[in-house]
Amino acid sequence: PAPLRLGIAGLGTVGAGVLKILRDQSDLIAARAGRPVTVSAVSARSRERDRGVDISAFAWEDDPVALATRDDIDVFVELMGGTDGPAKAGTEAAIAAGKDVVTANKAMLAHHGQALAEAAEARGHVIRFEAAVAGGIPVIKTLTEGLSANRVERVMGVMNGTCNYILTRMQSSGLPYETVFDEADKLGYLEADPELDVGGIDAGHKLALLSSIAFGCQVDFDGVALEGIGSVTIDDIRQAADMGFRIKLLGVAQLTGRGLEQRMQPCLVPAASPLGQLEGGTNMVVIEGDAVGQIVLRGAGAGEGPTASAVLADVIDIARGIRVSTFGQPAASLRAVRPAQSAVP
Ligand code: NDP
Ligand code: HSE
Repeated sequence: PAPLRLGIAGLGTVGAGVLKILRDQSDLIAARAGRPVTVSAVSARSRERDRGVDISAFAWEDDPVALATRDDIDVFVELMGGTDGPAKAGTEAAIAAGKDVVTANKAMLAHHGQALAEAAEARGHVIRFEAAVAGGIPVIKTLTEGLSANRVERVMGVMNGTCNYILTRMQSSGLPYETVFDEADKLGYLEADPELDVGGIDAGHKLALLSSIAFGCQVDFDGVALEGIGSVTIDDIRQAADMGFRIKLLGVAQLTGRGLEQRMQPCLVPAASPLGQLEGGTNMVVIEGDAVGQIVLRGAGAGEGPTASAVLADVIDIARGIRVSTFGQPAASLRAVRPAQSAVP
């Protein structure tokens, strides 16, 4: 069978991870995809940078838009990041050129995901983004495939590993926020703009995508009531612990008679609960469906291997011919639902 040919824009943590899995697991991927998955061309800012993986066999494009529209690619894999800029331009160009798209870019998707998906689906193509929510945890596939017969009542969870690291480390070390923030910075955990992490914005992007998929409604990032962890003090952490609680940056989304309630804010959770026990950079997503009851998913929400794992699961789906929208239903059929502002404290 004909190979599925990728064009990969962005060769950082995630892009290099994708290339390494494709290099090391090509037979396994071909067997599962039913056809070989190959890379035709790549793009990044620097052609010379050592990425820990040989890219000499691939064509090089300086411009991601040129990559996205090449005749020798079937799928544009966007792994650059950024709400707008080359990520959005490349994705739009790929869709216009009749390519499928796979991306891990939750910032772009939270703002433009629905319009991009509608444009792709109108042309008989898909934009898939399993990696954008909770990294390596297959939460989108769980919702859209495993739980597709359920009316989802609530989704919640810890969706930013950096914030979970900072809060857990404050708890275990007794060190103040500022010191632990600096540690996280030195460990390379923080986004280029740390406010995306500690301001709850990155987790809010993920929650907006997840609630759209869970409830079949339009992506509404502006409707997420956001509060970051910057004001959590060591005294807050100690007092919570004295009462048997932990503080977690917790996202909760539910659709009620008042509308769509989406909150991402520091919350008290019982220390002995699965959420309270969640350590380090890990993520946890809890889904409650009317038929299935409660499902708890826990795992790596970030990092080279876990995120590349999710990206390639989407690529393999496309190679298999799965044309289902990542939203679980056609993007154009997602309902507009009013935000339940009154529910926000
Ligand atoms: P990195 O910063 O490690 O890599 C970004 C890559 O994009 C780099 O290779 C960079 O080139 C390239 N790039 C940036 N701007 C341009 C441009 N204008 N033209 C061409 N290439 C460009 O990011 P990550 O790999 O960490 O993240 C990629 C995406 O995945 C983001 O959307 C992120 O939010 C998402 N994501 C990341 C996770 C993670 O654990 N890292 C987890 C889940 C999602 P160069 O290398 O030459 O500088
Ligand atoms: N900055 C994000 C986090 C990366 O800490 O969870 C993964 O999306």
